[in-house]
Amino acid sequence: MNATAVLNRIGVAYEQPLDAHAADGRCATRQAWARVPPEPAQAERGALKDRIRRLLKERNASMVSHYYVHPDLQDLAEETGGLVGDSLEMARFGRDHAAQTLVVSGVRFMGETAKILSPEKTILMPDLDASCSLDLGCPADAFGAFCAEHPERSVVVYANTSAAVKARADWVVTSSCALEIVRALRAAGRKILWAPDRHLGAYIQRETGADMVFWSGACIVHDEFKAFELEALKQEHPRAKVLVHPESPAEVVALADAVGSTSAILKAAREMDAQEFIVATDNGMLHRLRTQNPDKVFHEAPTSGHGATCKSCAHCPWMAMNGLAGVVHALETGANAVLVDPALIARARQPIDRMLAFTAALRSGQPAAGLLPHLGAV
Ligand code: 13P
Ligand code: SF4
Repeated sequence: MNATAVLNRIGVAYEQPLDAHAADGRCATRQAWARVPPEPAQAERGALKDRIRRLLKERNASMVSHYYVHPDLQDLAEETGGLVGDSLEMARFGRDHAAQTLVVSGVRFMGETAKILSPEKTILMPDLDASCSLDLGCPADAFGAFCAEHPERSVVVYANTSAAVKARADWVVTSSCALEIVRALRAAGRKILWAPDRHLGAYIQRETGADMVFWSGACIVHDEFKAFELEALKQEHPRAKVLVHPESPAEVVALADAVGSTSAILKAAREMDAQEFIVATDNGMLHRLRTQNPDKVFHEAPTSGHGATCKSCAHCPWMAMNGLAGVVHALETGANAVLVDPALIARARQPIDRMLAFTAALRSGQPAAGLLPHLGAV
């Protein structure tokens, strides 16, 4: 793999293609932290929110925000009839909503997915350089070579990838549907090539028993959760249930009472018979968890080893690049529109459509296995 370990400003090593920044302008963690917008003063914050409410109406636009972005962007999306959701829900909402302009607060792959599903819509983002270590760590040319080594395998890629990588895939999955899709592929006798998150891939392999080969990417946030320290925190809070996103290492997943996507974590917190939780995912989730469960207590899972300093501090620098001023700027000027090569759109759309059709059919009660031939990807 044409990659090197890159150190961000607080010393986290991750896999990044040598030329990622030069080739496509996306920034590494150091640049991301440097571009996190300052917190506006109270009066300015209120004025920015008012401008966004007005601009959304004037532009016939809708806001779609991920659970990890700033609470203001989550609350505005909800208040104005947009969506706060996980990456699968964001994709579905963007495709189905009538608004001709969508403001996607999250990371680049989320904006690209919205554009691929609705090429006729204008997709704006507060900062187009908000990327993801999984996307950066899986360049399309190297990934294509990996696929070529395994022509007999179904190519399943996580949504946290570029349009070019999706265009090479048979299936796109998110953490909320990956288990079901891989389970159905295994039942149909398929072997899997999985990319890029090695922890999520290993979790799915353990759960499904599928024959899988892996790309070796990781999320710089979830990769930092520590099992030993989590055990210690559990001892301090013996009644707390542990909620874990499956991008976390296996030893952390092994300590979980519930494992799942951001929406699955929210559901577990609402429905589990417990008053106290330890949460191993980006701490942007705490806003929603606490708003939905005001009587429950949430603790952040530890990211620093014994005696070490906090590395990622459980927050994604690229998600943190999204701010109120960026939304105003995009809506006022039309800047930061997501553009995807039409040839890539045509190819990347198929595996995303398959995922959406599969999950819609599952929700309507159809058996998973029978869906695969129908979706043309076994
Ligand atoms: P979800 O699909 O669970 O929202 O995850 C997206 C993501 O980037 C997690 O780090
Ligand atoms: Fe990517 Fe991790 Fe950030 Fe999610 S939290 S966008 S997986 S780097």
